[in-house]
Amino acid sequence: MKKPKILIVERNNAFRQNLGKMLLVNGFEVVETSDKIDAVRFFQNNRPDLVIVGSSRDDTRDGLEVAQQIRRLDRIVPIILIAAKSTEDLAINALRIGINDYFKQPFSSEELTVGVNRCLSDFFRRESAGEYGTTPPCPIDSQRMIGENVQMREIKRYIGKAASTDSNVLITGETGTGKELAAELIHRNSPRSKKPFVCVNCTAIPDSLLESELFGYERGAFTGADSLKEGKLKHGEGGTVFFDEIGDMSLYHQAKILRAIESKEVQRVGGRGSIPLDIRIVAATNQDLDQLVEEGKFRKDLYFRLNVARIHLPPLRERKEDIPFLLGFYIRELNRRFGREVECLAKDVLEYLLCYDWPGNVRELKNLLEATYVNLSSRRISLSDLPEQFRRRIGEATDTPRSEPALLLSTLMSTNWNKSKAARKLHWSRMTLYRKMAKYRIFSL
Ligand SMILES: Nc1ncnc2c1ncn2[C@@H]1O[C@H](COP(=O)(O)OP(=O)(O)OP(=O)(O)O)[C@@H](O)[C@H]1O
Ligand SMILES: [Mg+2]
Repeated sequence: MKKPKILIVERNNAFRQNLGKMLLVNGFEVVETSDKIDAVRFFQNNRPDLVIVGSSRDDTRDGLEVAQQIRRLDRIVPIILIAAKSTEDLAINALRIGINDYFKQPFSSEELTVGVNRCLSDFFRRESAGEYGTTPPCPIDSQRMIGENVQMREIKRYIGKAASTDSNVLITGETGTGKELAAELIHRNSPRSKKPFVCVNCTAIPDSLLESELFGYERGAFTGADSLKEGKLKHGEGGTVFFDEIGDMSLYHQAKILRAIESKEVQRVGGRGSIPLDIRIVAATNQDLDQLVEEGKFRKDLYFRLNVARIHLPPLRERKEDIPFLLGFYIRELNRRFGREVECLAKDVLEYLLCYDWPGNVRELKNLLEATYVNLSSRRISLSDLPEQFRRRIGEATDTPRSEPALLLSTLMSTNWNKSKAARKLHWSRMTLYRKMAKYRIFSL
């Protein structure tokens, strides 16, 4: 197994060596330097999986400068800052630069290892998927997929990786989490992007028609088949076919699809010969396919064929810190569409929306905003502008336990982003508040 490589940049020799030993013992590969100019060269030559930067007691800017230079070279590599002396200024600047985690001395070896492992979760996932040694990650056009949450950033990065390969992809997630959007992004960022992207909604096509829809038919194959018709799979020739709601496909059709994938050929209904087929398959479901396999409702062999690359989109309630970003994105889009100039939401509206659990996920949020625009008279969305039905629904759900990022966000908003007040309200130290803001990538709006 490939060990994650960590670059340590720290001026204090004894401390740096100690840190190096701590990490070596815990199974990491370590490269070290004390010099900030060397550090950038080291970074470029060694391409580490994570960087730890120390900031000294007398000159905190020292560590930040290096971190900033590295961040400019690589927007994704996790950077951990270790502060000899922790100040509010340092924490804020660390957040601005995009530091992933922040440790104040002293800390234990366990604390550091947990922090390092958390920052390396993307590395471990790619390692276990056997992705190393192939092509470097490809940046995707992810502007349409909003998500600054740690998991979402990883997903967007993974979509870029998966797009550049030709593997089949299985996308899971609750309704409205963006499965179709992810499938489209995979296609648009893949070498097949100039060829068709064909959607097959397995639920919408009646079982009796699915075969002829997918594989096409020959003239005279059945009553009414008065001319040859190509199927949806062939329409996707050279491109990507997206099987939506694949969990709803009957076992009979699953077998047919499997044969087409394995043989890379299709046979039209009523046809004798086979026609070559070159498609990439992306499938999505909001059902638990593992369970369907166990219950004998989904073919295991097809499951393995599809589950080569796997993307799971988390529900919105588990990434509430993305809500403000999504709202901003859709307000801009709706302004364009409706020719409006809505600027913002009132603070209490945001708080309100953060308390809600969004069973319909991003789609529900998007629909809510659209419905709100219809009757909106001012440039600012206030509580009374939200559709009444929705307000009632939220009212019923306000005592649901809130996730930590949601709690943090709503507290920050309720204190007008006054961090000292928010920390007091949450009974946290200010440093904990900053650390959690960095962890959940929550920045002042
Ligand atoms: N991260 C996101 N950023 C911006 N828009 C998003 C995001 N996720 C989803 N959407 C939007 O939400 C709507 C629903 O997304 P999509 O159709 O991809 O969901 P789905 O997972 O396929 O849902 P279902 O299971 O109900 O088919 C779409 O309009 C999509 O563009
Ligand atoms: Mg869908």
